[in-house]
Amino acid sequence: MLPNKVAIDIIRRYMARFEKGEDIEEFRRDLIKDLLNHGVLVKTEDGTYTLVSECKEELMHSRIGALKESVEKFVIPSNLKHIKNPKILDLCSGIGYNSIGALHYNRNCKIDMVECCKEVLFLSLCLDIPYEEHNIIKNRIKDFLEGDVNRSTINIYLEDGRNAIKKLEGGYNVVFHDAFSPQRDAVLYTVDFLRKVYKKMDDNGVLISYSSSIPFRSALVEAGFILSEGHPVGRRRGITIAYKNPSPDRKIRRISPTDERLIAISTVGIPYRDPNLNFTHEEIVEHRKLERMEFKKRLLEIGRYYSTKKVKLGKVDKRFLNIQRLDLNSTQVILKMREVLGI
Ligand SMILES: C[S@@+](CC[C@H](N)C(=O)[O-])C[C@H]1O[C@@H](n2cnc3c(N)ncnc32)[C@H](O)[C@@H]1O
Repeated sequence: MLPNKVAIDIIRRYMARFEKGEDIEEFRRDLIKDLLNHGVLVKTEDGTYTLVSECKEELMHSRIGALKESVEKFVIPSNLKHIKNPKILDLCSGIGYNSIGALHYNRNCKIDMVECCKEVLFLSLCLDIPYEEHNIIKNRIKDFLEGDVNRSTINIYLEDGRNAIKKLEGGYNVVFHDAFSPQRDAVLYTVDFLRKVYKKMDDNGVLISYSSSIPFRSALVEAGFILSEGHPVGRRRGITIAYKNPSPDRKIRRISPTDERLIAISTVGIPYRDPNLNFTHEEIVEHRKLERMEFKKRLLEIGRYYSTKKVKLGKVDKRFLNIQRLDLNSTQVILKMREVLGI
């Protein structure tokens, strides 16, 4: 899914002026006014701006604040302040809030920004984001749009994350996974894509996502990640913090017991898949629907099918509940419950 089409068309008109050599200062306020007047740019509660997406109900950021969200949901939980020369993959980098926040907390970051929409990158040049590190990102975006090839500290990949991941060098200590919601666009939430990301991460690397979706967390488990839950910011459910191999000083917080059971033994836990990294969202959803039906059939055959309601209430075989009482992390619990399930 992309940002709103009306917004893209408006930004494109102003971008043409930039491409003809006009100074951005000459028109950037008009661009912002134009976007606001069309209701496709939104001022969030911390005073920073975000765009409306193709689906009008979903914004690119939470209304509590675009910059606030980036700092509280991504930068602080990643612990990058305490990592020496962190290497970051900023997936769906958009306007660049997460990269700006990362640089604000650690100037020694090396960042690969991946974004498929040129107009969103350009919009960053026209906004005022109250961290001076915005200038670093602005300069890099400007150079990139003027044809400068990637440098060593901040690189921009203007393409689908599924293509970018194949060629990126890797070694990431931190991955910001900031795609639109999996309910509306699942392409970056599949087992297959997340496996590729996993391979490109440093051994102690961490992936952060605002999403707490069950099929996404299930995909993370299948891709090899250790699940942990961060504190909720501006919503009821906590963010997802997924480790490749967490160092002993990292606190692993279990996801809720209900979510563990849903992932492990219910059809809701069937993850998104995209074996050749080329399915559309609709194809991913359709394949998952079929896999859920097949899974339910197999569970019924072996007499281990539980309705989602029963799973949520914990009205399941005691062996599953006993596993949940063990001193393990959520990924270990889920894998053990699946062993007992026997599928
Ligand atoms: C929720 S917004 C992320 C906001 C962003 N982190 C920021 O600081 O502005 C999602 C972004 O992902 C981009 N996007 C959507 N699908 C993508 C894909 N398959 N690969 C790369 N970028 C994608 C959209 O254009 C949009 O800018």
